[in-house]
Amino acid sequence: MKNIRNFSIIAHIDHGKSTLADRIIQECGSVTERELGSQMMDTMDIEQERGITIKAQSVRLNYVKDGEPYILNLIDTPGHVDFSYEVSKSLASSDGALLIVDAAQGVEAQTIANVYLALDNNLELIPVINKIDLPAAEPERVAEEIEEAIGIDATDAVLTSAKSGIGIRELLDAIVERIPAPVGDPDATTKAIIYDSWFDSYLGALALVRVFDGEISKGQLVKLMSNNEQHQVLDLMYPHPIHKIKTDSIKSGEIGIVVLGLKDVGAVNVGDTLTDAKNPCAEPVGDYEPAKPFVFAGLYPIDTDRFEELRDALDKLKLNDSSLSYEPETSIALGFGFRVGFLGMLHMEVIKERLEREFNLDLIATAPSVVYDVYLTNGDMVQVQNPSELPEVQKIERIEEPYVKATVITPSEYLGNIMTLLINKRGIQDKMTYLNEERVMLEYSLPMNEIVIDFYDTLKSISKGYASFDYEPTDFKEGDLVKLDVKVAGEVVDALSVIVPRSSALSRGRTLVKNMKELIPRQLFEVAVQASLGNQVIARETVKSMGKNVTAKCYGGDITRKRKLLEKQKAGKKRMKSIGKVQLPQEAFMSVLKMD
Ligand code: GTP
Repeated sequence: MKNIRNFSIIAHIDHGKSTLADRIIQECGSVTERELGSQMMDTMDIEQERGITIKAQSVRLNYVKDGEPYILNLIDTPGHVDFSYEVSKSLASSDGALLIVDAAQGVEAQTIANVYLALDNNLELIPVINKIDLPAAEPERVAEEIEEAIGIDATDAVLTSAKSGIGIRELLDAIVERIPAPVGDPDATTKAIIYDSWFDSYLGALALVRVFDGEISKGQLVKLMSNNEQHQVLDLMYPHPIHKIKTDSIKSGEIGIVVLGLKDVGAVNVGDTLTDAKNPCAEPVGDYEPAKPFVFAGLYPIDTDRFEELRDALDKLKLNDSSLSYEPETSIALGFGFRVGFLGMLHMEVIKERLEREFNLDLIATAPSVVYDVYLTNGDMVQVQNPSELPEVQKIERIEEPYVKATVITPSEYLGNIMTLLINKRGIQDKMTYLNEERVMLEYSLPMNEIVIDFYDTLKSISKGYASFDYEPTDFKEGDLVKLDVKVAGEVVDALSVIVPRSSALSRGRTLVKNMKELIPRQLFEVAVQASLGNQVIARETVKSMGKNVTAKCYGGDITRKRKLLEKQKAGKKRMKSIGKVQLPQEAFMSVLKMD
């Protein structure tokens, strides 16, 4: 055990985590240059395209230092806040972490969020300043920023260029020297944490575990502590991106893949403790929480007949992503669909994109919503995820909404604009830290409702792309909130309802009807677009009637042109939904997203 090192890599997006991981793997001689070809740590297509890590991967490596052989277990962590529960469980499985910071960019918001999680787990942090090959690299300045922002000593940071292969040996030596060997009792009964799980079409559900005490052996009857379910260990492997190595046991301090022969990944949840079925350990490893969705949206097939296909597609995605939750929902405007719960905004985008791309479904997504705790005058509390289901005003005593701790890091020249944005979003400042003269870190408490729509894009545009942002859900607080409805030709379009702070209802209502007016094609009759709070109309626009046939504009008897125009119209109609007599284009449902 004394020659094992278990470590994670934490970094802000694009600071070079995957490239560095590949270099480490290569340096340990575990794969050839050719196999390395493309970055291996990111495996899913969408991950590769977007350059983000969603599912954690791990790899067991051999390294020799001063003639002494070591086993290095690289535990990859998902790079995004949406998956912070998974990140924290990966970190709980490690004994140390490499904190990678881009030498030209410096500390960013995600670096901070991940460091807090690492410190919670008492990990030994090795600061790594990467991309020192860049002409704009300023390693000393970045070391200072690390000290200011995080309060750890960065004088002995390892300087690397993952791209040119500089500093990789030094980094491996530092891992061996500075990260403590795992501790645990090899003779005690089995105690392991599941820190990742996924579905393999041949082997079924797989659990990636870190063993703390005892060992897991092939054939052993084990149980999962969250639900007391018992399973037999069919096979065991050490993780490796290309050649997984079978083993008969995974011992105290080691990481490995456990094959339980299960058809559903929902049974092997991240954070659960695996122990011996006959002689279970007394306490689980840390707290286990089932994945909790924070953001909800309605997903509807544009073609109503494809509802069952959408269900099948969601079932398939769920096989590999137990954090995905959904239930059927009906909307007067959109027909049959699902209310889907996501861990965060990125998770939502990824799922929607996979449904469209891998399953060929055309979908309408309603505006994302957080979960509200609605306290009723009769003493009950209901959780509302769908704004159109908010009870009548008279029945509500108060509404509580979820808050986040938000971290923004920005060059100081954008500070004014960003603070204005945060105040407009009902933010309350907790802390402001100058990392140096040019860069500032802001920590705010912010209603989550304000960041699910449009926040990130606005932040990026007012900081010319330089500000970084991250958040962590905290608690629920009371808010003065109202439901804003949209009526088209007198009918409430349920899928467009949003819950907003009373103070901004009027301005949002105005913008909303204005956006909608632009999007609704002229009809044969005049169409009123109204925003209302209950029965009270607060804004109105009118779409004038057209009355004329579009093809009338075509001159002469140009039949092909006429036909083309009609075909184009027909194709356009596919992405339309009828609200009473009015056809609404898909974009109308997204217009609620552009309210600023
Ligand atoms: P996520 O998976 O999104 O967390 O990103 P990442 O941190 O894994 O970053 P990745 O390794 O994908 O690197 C991001 C970009 O930086 C890529 O274009 C890399 O080629 C580049 N890069 C990584 N390391 C270096 C380096 O040492 N020097 C230079 N110049 N570029 C680097």
